[in-house]
Amino acid sequence: MLKIIRTADYAAMSRQAANIISAQVIQKPDCVLGLATGSSPIGTYQQLIDWYNKGDVDFSQVRTVNLDEYLALPRENDQSYYYFMHDNFFDHVNLPEGATNLPNGMAEDMAAECARYDALIESLGGVDLQLLGLGHDGHIGFNKPCGEFPKGPHVVDLAEETIEANKRFFASKDDVPRQAVTMGIGTIMAARKVVLVVSGADKAEIVKKAFFGPVTPQVPASILQMHPDVTVVADEAALSAL
Ligand code: F6R
Repeated sequence: MLKIIRTADYAAMSRQAANIISAQVIQKPDCVLGLATGSSPIGTYQQLIDWYNKGDVDFSQVRTVNLDEYLALPRENDQSYYYFMHDNFFDHVNLPEGATNLPNGMAEDMAAECARYDALIESLGGVDLQLLGLGHDGHIGFNKPCGEFPKGPHVVDLAEETIEANKRFFASKDDVPRQAVTMGIGTIMAARKVVLVVSGADKAEIVKKAFFGPVTPQVPASILQMHPDVTVVADEAALSAL
């Protein structure tokens, strides 16, 4: 079932999403959280950090698995998702060392790495709550529009526009990652609960397509219409095309 929570703005969206996540952690202190990077969840992480600092939420038994990572980009690079997660969340709460997981985009054998990540998620007992953002073309994780929904973790080639857009963060275009590793749609759909945060008028058309249009791999997020427990937390601007 798909539930939409409408909020006034980004701050309220972030508070609502953080509320759902902290409720999950309170109900099941050793839960597995699936996490995302990007601009959409930053406020959610800030709110969770704030509540952690106030003593209202405890991450000491939580385990996390992130959606995706660039290939061939060392962890220390401030554009890596490893860096992002530590900078925006992990380093500010009491998640134990070793409780946080991201796919390793530096692995020599990426097929083995995808199999390892899949087995890791399975060994943790699956994801209790998966946090997602929504790309302008309907992508979730790095699952781009394509001919069929990919199942497990896999490597994707980045679109030329993405490489072009990311160029500004790197010394030269040659340093920009050309590939990424992502959880598949199957892994995301297997999460027991999904929370998708989306904000801004520039996402309004894709929100309409993804959640009110046909289910198609051309709009990867549309598959979430088939998930039993999805909450879309969206600000008014993101819902303005409905
Ligand atoms: C991030 C991710 C991406 C983003 C999406 C939206 O781990 O998997 O799918 O969620 O690109 O990005 P923002 O939130 O920056 O608009």
